[in-house]
Amino acid sequence: MPTTLPAPLLQQFSAFLSARLGLHFPPPRWADLERGLSAAAADFGLAGPESCIRRLMSAPLRREQVETLASHLTVGETYFFRDPAVFAALEHHILPPLIAAGREQGRRLRLWSAGCCSGEEAYSLAILLDRLIPDLDDWHITLLATDINPHFLARARLGAYREWSFRGTAVSLKPQYFTPAEDGTFTLKPRIRRLVSVDYLNLVDDTYPSLASNTNGMDLILCRNVLMYFAEDTVDAIVAKLRRCLTTDGWLALSPTEGSAALRSGFTAVEFSDTLVYRKTETAERPAPTTAPSWAAAPLPPRPARPAARSAPPARPAAAPPETAIAQARTCFSRGAYAQAADLLSAAAPTAAPDCALAAHACANIGRLDDALRWCALAISADKSGPELRYLQAVILAERGDAAAAIGCFRQALYLDPDFALAHFALGNLHRRLGMATQAARHFDNARRLLANCAADSPLPHAEGLTASRLLAIIDSTEQIS
Ligand SMILES: C[S@@+](CC[C@H](N)C(=O)[O-])C[C@H]1O[C@@H](n2cnc3c(N)ncnc32)[C@H](O)[C@@H]1O
Repeated sequence: MPTTLPAPLLQQFSAFLSARLGLHFPPPRWADLERGLSAAAADFGLAGPESCIRRLMSAPLRREQVETLASHLTVGETYFFRDPAVFAALEHHILPPLIAAGREQGRRLRLWSAGCCSGEEAYSLAILLDRLIPDLDDWHITLLATDINPHFLARARLGAYREWSFRGTAVSLKPQYFTPAEDGTFTLKPRIRRLVSVDYLNLVDDTYPSLASNTNGMDLILCRNVLMYFAEDTVDAIVAKLRRCLTTDGWLALSPTEGSAALRSGFTAVEFSDTLVYRKTETAERPAPTTAPSWAAAPLPPRPARPAARSAPPARPAAAPPETAIAQARTCFSRGAYAQAADLLSAAAPTAAPDCALAAHACANIGRLDDALRWCALAISADKSGPELRYLQAVILAERGDAAAAIGCFRQALYLDPDFALAHFALGNLHRRLGMATQAARHFDNARRLLANCAADSPLPHAEGLTASRLLAIIDSTEQIS
């Protein structure tokens, strides 16, 4: 189909889309772009694609606009166990050692399907876990499934699939893991459905890695058949951010046709039969554009008296003067070398709250949750009035599965800073996961009320770059898909 819009306008709008949604529409795809815009224009109540472009480019994009565009311009092709070679590598080579290591660390595993579409990929992972972990009910599994398209997210959350989603799967899959419904769909058994948390996340945004979006310390990330729609520099930026979401030696699986210059440093390509999967290495590389969390970068407060030695993680002999080691640790943290950052800080034995908080964050990112909590305790004893420290402690407790203690710490954070919107959001999420819908709604409302008073596009305090408008969008989609 030939395009009807002027080429300069399409060119300009393609660049705009690439920056806001990551989507890449070179001239050969302009007909697809125009078709999607016509459909979006109808949803917006606008006359046609040209007025749609002009309206969208006239002011910062609102969440509903991003979502409407995403729903008409993204491709939702997916099915269970898509690309058997990757799932065979996961089942036979990658997951077994991750599970063995996770068992040693309190039966914990963190996986992420980024660009999950309607959820088939994330649930395929959940099914693999069910096959490989006999005592799965005793594990703390984080299996995050994120996407930009709210319609796909709603389907993922529902967990009901048509026959087409099972093309290429063994016949035994359905009877074992699904319940057939009269309308011809197959609904996932609740024990598999429960393993997956479905959330909105635009991969182009700077909302990850972050404790707030639960995207830190991942053992494995699947981001397959997503990056192929993005421009090269967007892909590189996303791969660099995904790398920082991985724990030491964590794995990243892309689809066979996807690649990025960013894979060349900081990853080793590991070959399994018919597929490549990338493993994070902590080699030296350019520091990433974003840095350690804001509280870690804050000026150091005066040194408090050293707290009792028994509460500190074991210190190693310092190789560099402590201040140098701490600066090096910040650099390591910012480029995703969390184990190195944790070791440097352990050797430097800092006592200032931001440094201890940085150490806690680094340990949390590599799954050393007990060490992370000890560092938090040190940070809090150095600065009892820091709401961000209670928040960090609460997030780590929640990750350990200690919901009651986490709720207590989030409340302390709110006591210290009643305007801490992110703490309300986290409390809302925690209550939602506990099935306490009324309390969840109350905290989401509180967060919304506080965010309404913040400048939409400036980063929120203690939120690792997250802006008020972004958090509002996340709250809306979280509630929509609840
Ligand atoms: C073809 S599907 C891939 C689904 C699954 N990963 C698979 O391989 O079967 C691509 C997905 O990427 C999502 N997507 C596109 N742009 C995105 C963005 N900026 N952030 C997050 N997800 C995005 C689309 O909404 C779509 O669900």
